[in-house]
Amino acid sequence: MKKNRGMVLLVLALVGFACADVITGKEADFRSGHGTEGKQRGMLKVVDEFVQINKSDERYNVKITNGKLGDITKFENVPADEEQMIKDMESILQEKMSKDYPKGQTKRGAHPKNMACLQAEFIVEPNIPVELKVGIFELPQTYPAWIRISSASGKVQSDKVKDLRGFAIKIMGVQGERYKTQNEEKETQDFILISYPIMPLGTVKLFHDAVYYSIKWSPLVFLSRLVISGNFYVINELLKANQNQTSPLDIRYWSTTPYLYGTNLVVKYAIVPTSNMKSVLPSNLTDHYLTENMEKHLASNEASFDFMIQVQKDPDRMPVEDAGVEWSEKESPFIKVAALRIPPQIFRTREREELAEDLSFSPAHALIEHRPIGGINRARVELYRYLSEFRHKQNNKPLIEPGKQTDGGRHEQQ
Ligand code: HEM
Repeated sequence: MKKNRGMVLLVLALVGFACADVITGKEADFRSGHGTEGKQRGMLKVVDEFVQINKSDERYNVKITNGKLGDITKFENVPADEEQMIKDMESILQEKMSKDYPKGQTKRGAHPKNMACLQAEFIVEPNIPVELKVGIFELPQTYPAWIRISSASGKVQSDKVKDLRGFAIKIMGVQGERYKTQNEEKETQDFILISYPIMPLGTVKLFHDAVYYSIKWSPLVFLSRLVISGNFYVINELLKANQNQTSPLDIRYWSTTPYLYGTNLVVKYAIVPTSNMKSVLPSNLTDHYLTENMEKHLASNEASFDFMIQVQKDPDRMPVEDAGVEWSEKESPFIKVAALRIPPQIFRTREREELAEDLSFSPAHALIEHRPIGGINRARVELYRYLSEFRHKQNNKPLIEPGKQTDGGRHEQQ
């Protein structure tokens, strides 16, 4: 019974709808640590019907549809009912946000807890193989960036509670042709990562069902459906994904979803910590121990990460349409293409707190060469814009795009 409760809460936490108290601390007896092997598992029963393609743009291997979702690449297949599932999620999540927060204090529908909003530099590697010198990685430049580090649970809760952590990077002053769908920002490139190599709810259908059944019915209904359909691996992965980390600056993060890289390559992203300093897990975990450990780290030391890409080698073993499948690092090792440097800084200020709330991150904020692909990304492109607009409207705030100067530099969108 206790274990069932733990599972329910973990599902809720991941989907961003946790509504209960602290997770009991009941450990999953699955091995932690994600091997480097690609995981194969039962295929999901996704609808076989796909939207019709009627035009094409050879330049970016882009097929142009008449659908609301805009154009898609040759690497993608869009289930016919996807648009409807995305609309459903938009309205369910919006309703949930209206219920959870009063006007003026509306937080994100997922990852509402800001643990740090950090000023950083994104330094493109000079020695990238020529075929990987693409988009933002074409020239060895240093860009200013903001990072928002968050906790995934849908409610703001203690750091004691095991959770997935989010790491959203917004690079500024990025010139070039832009990805056009729901991309209102002019000179940014966002990279959004989480502290686990896969998104266990890896298809729009799975994510939609999690949102729909957990909120409209109950989390138990969603869990029962997972069990009945034989999707035990989803529950296992959800349990493993939630952890008590030493510090968000000490761990790896993954994009879990794929992106185009130029015109013919498909990649996933990851960042690997390279700081000299490592935090220790306090014997008594406090409500903000993760933020406190970052504060101690950045009081006089810098933090750093390698920014890596993993190139898709095989479309079946490394699918685009299921973010729940880990791409084997043995088959395709991550390659460093940039470094992230976070200088020592004071970040627990009212201004930073406010900036964290005002920023909008989205896979859509990208150069055309780094366009988001795959079902989960197609959903996020629509959802993040829609819900960020709603959040800002509720708070009577304009959507902002931070400018090139790193501190406080921001301007309202035209
Ligand atoms: C269809 C699947 C998904 C849905 C419905 C969803 C939903 C959301 C929502 C509603 C937000 C808040 C957006 C805002 O108000 O600005 C959010 C933020 C976030 N999501 Fe997702 N998400 C999905 C998949 C993913 C995946 C695969 C990742 C893996 C990287 C991810 C990582 C994040 C992170 C790190 C944030 C916080 C960004 C920030 O700091 O503003 N999400 N998500």
